[in-house]
Amino acid sequence: GKSGYDHYMLKEIYEQPRAVRQCTRGRVTEMAGSLELSELPASVRSGTDRVQLVGCGTSFYAMQYGASLLCEHGIPAQPFVASEYDADSIPIEPDTLVVAVTQSGETADTLGALRAANRAGATTLAVTNVVGSSAARECDAAVYIRAGPEISVAATKSFASQQVTLAMIASVLAERQSQPFLGALRDLPSRIQHVLDTSSARHVAEEIVDADAYFFVGRRYQYPVALEGALKMKEITYEHAEGFAAGELKHGPLALVTPRTPVVALVTGSEDVVDRTLGTVREVEARGAPVVAVTTSSAPVEPVADYVLEVPETHRHLVPILTNVQLQLLAYWTADLLGRPIDKPRNLAKSVTVE
Ligand code: F6R
Repeated sequence: GKSGYDHYMLKEIYEQPRAVRQCTRGRVTEMAGSLELSELPASVRSGTDRVQLVGCGTSFYAMQYGASLLCEHGIPAQPFVASEYDADSIPIEPDTLVVAVTQSGETADTLGALRAANRAGATTLAVTNVVGSSAARECDAAVYIRAGPEISVAATKSFASQQVTLAMIASVLAERQSQPFLGALRDLPSRIQHVLDTSSARHVAEEIVDADAYFFVGRRYQYPVALEGALKMKEITYEHAEGFAAGELKHGPLALVTPRTPVVALVTGSEDVVDRTLGTVREVEARGAPVVAVTTSSAPVEPVADYVLEVPETHRHLVPILTNVQLQLLAYWTADLLGRPIDKPRNLAKSVTVE
């Protein structure tokens, strides 16, 4: 059941500390201070010159985040929307590792991409929540995200668990296991719990609920989080929401910005990234848009933001997991105020088994 929550979505948002703890259990060993993914066979670890990731929807955004971590570790990685991945237009070399990211393991578009990769002779890896699913069975290897059953159509805890799993895979493939990263992984459940305990997203939702549209902007690792935040908002509120790379706003979307379009800005990262994102924030503020800044305590957002949703400091690779929790709550409370059927949005199914 819903354990006292009004919706499965809220229950699953609150299950994230536990889901993440499950995901790292036995993989991040505290004593040795190391990371071990026994499901990754030697054939996957060696023989990998580059990585292609395939998936849909929320899983695609988790992959986009994972791909940027792999690239930062020096491994060329490219995310593909599974329905756009075909051997006629994309070179799939045998030394390519193709990673299919799918919560259900049954998404037809993702299985189609996976089969194309298998036919081309690539090594394939499934990152999935469901043991024995089609994706798990059809890949050379599978790493489970261990999020537990997800009932709500809108993916929440599975996204966090995908992010964590991909961050671990990136670290293992790169053979880089920094102690600060491992320590932050270990502490991540309590950081997420802190966000859940202190979030003012419900109050912010009350302030911005009557809007024409919602825009989400972020840079680097926060760009996919902006896209995911917008997807969650549109799925469950039925309101128009779009995510952009913060730097892209001035190349067109700024024309849409008015006092009736709140802009949710993910303002985290290095000083330089924060400065440039604040530049974007000032541009929208000058057009009268209400600004919601999602940030860590160190970023100087106070003078420009109308509302602040703060997350604790952690390793920079894991901050996007925390900021996303704030966006999940913002979408949830906005949809709740609008009286939407949150767990079963119109026209959508939990598992999309048609192409
Ligand atoms: C959004 C959502 C969908 C799924 C997509 C892929 O909240 O749930 O966008 O992420 O249909 O599903 P899986 O991960 O099962 O392949």
